[in-house]
Amino acid sequence: MAKLITVFGATGSQGGGVANALLEDSDFKVRILTRSASSAKAKALQERGAEVVEGSYDDPGSLERALQGAYGTYIMTQQYFELPDFDQLEIKQGKAVADAAKAAGVQHVVFSSLEDVQKTAGFPCLHFETKAHIEEYMRSIDLPATYIMFPAYYDNYLTVFKPRQLEDGTYELGWAMEGAPMQGISVPDAGFAIRGIFKNRAEWLGRTVGLCADNITIQQHADILSKHLAPKVFKPTKMTSDAFGKLPFPGAKHLGDMFKFYRLGNPDRSAELTRQLYPGTRSLDQWVQDNKEALLSVLAMDKTAGKAQYVK
Ligand SMILES: NC(=O)c1ccc[n+]([C@@H]2O[C@H](COP(=O)([O-])OP(=O)(O)OC[C@H]3O[C@@H](n4cnc5c(N)ncnc54)[C@H](OP(=O)(O)O)[C@@H]3O)[C@@H](O)[C@H]2O)c1
Repeated sequence: MAKLITVFGATGSQGGGVANALLEDSDFKVRILTRSASSAKAKALQERGAEVVEGSYDDPGSLERALQGAYGTYIMTQQYFELPDFDQLEIKQGKAVADAAKAAGVQHVVFSSLEDVQKTAGFPCLHFETKAHIEEYMRSIDLPATYIMFPAYYDNYLTVFKPRQLEDGTYELGWAMEGAPMQGISVPDAGFAIRGIFKNRAEWLGRTVGLCADNITIQQHADILSKHLAPKVFKPTKMTSDAFGKLPFPGAKHLGDMFKFYRLGNPDRSAELTRQLYPGTRSLDQWVQDNKEALLSVLAMDKTAGKAQYVK
C-alpha cells in the first residue's frame, strides 16, 4: 500500500521538489499543507493527486489534520526576514510541527535543518541556527527523523539571485564568496534524493545528510553561464560577505553571515551521498543547459537589473 507523506512547504521551492518527486512514485501518496488551497500552486498539486489541507504552522488544528494517518513527513520552516524576531517565530513554528508529528505517531520525519553556526564556527548565522534549534528540539522529543542539510539552490538564479546586469552589459553573480567554492544543487534533484530517504527508512533514520551536486567557485558558475548563454557574459561579484551584510534589505546581514560560513565553516555536504540517493543529480553545467530558456527569459524580464531580491 502506498505510504502517505505530508509535505510542508510543497507550494514553495524545497517542499515543491519533494512533493513532485513523491507524486511521480506510486509507492507514495502526498498530502500538503498550505495557507491558501485556492492558489495556483496548490491547485496544480491537487490536480496531480495531492490531498490539500488548508492551514498554517500557527494553527495546531490544521497541523493535526495535515499529519493524521501519515507515515512520513517532510518538514521545512520559513525564515521571515522582514519580521522582527523572525528567529523566534521560525523556532516556534518548527516546534509546533514537531509536536504535531510526534502526536500523530509519524514514523519517518525528514527535517530540513542547518548548522548551529555560532557553535561550530564561532560567529552567528541566525537563519541557520533557528533550524539547528528545531533539530535539537526534535531530538529531545525522540522524533524518528533524518536531518537534511541543503546547500544553495541553483534555482535561485531564477529568483532571488538573478544575475544583475551591469552598465557595460555583462552580468554579475551576487554570491559573495570571495573566490571560495560554494556547494549547490537544484531543488527538483534534491527532491528526488529526499524521496530516496523516504524509500529506505532503516538505512537513513537518525542520520544527517548534507546534499549537494557540486562544489565550485562562482568564477566557474560564471564560466558555465557564459558558455551556455553566450554572447551574454557573467562574472562573480567582488563584494565581500561583510559588505553584502551591510546591504539595505531585510536579511542582508544573515545572508552575509551565511556566505562567511559557506567560505570558512566547511559545511558538510556530500555529492557522493547525494548521487547515491539520486544518481540523476545534475551538475550546474547540466542544470544551466536544461534551464537555458527559463534563464534567458528571467534575464530579459527586468533590464533595470539589480532587482534581484538579494542583490542591489
Ligand atoms: N534559497 C536557498 O538557497 C536555501 C538553501 C538552504 C536552505 N534554505 C531555506 O529554505 C527555506 C525556504 O524554503 P523555500 O526556498 O522552499 O521557500 P519558498 O519557495 O518561499 O516556500 C515557502 C513555503 O513555506 C510555506 N509557508 C510559509 N509560511 C507558512 C506558514 N505559516 N504555514 C504553513 N506553510 C507556510 C509556503 O506555503 P503557502 O504559501 O502555500 O502557505 C511555501 O510552500 C528557508 O528557511 C531557507 O533558510 C534556502
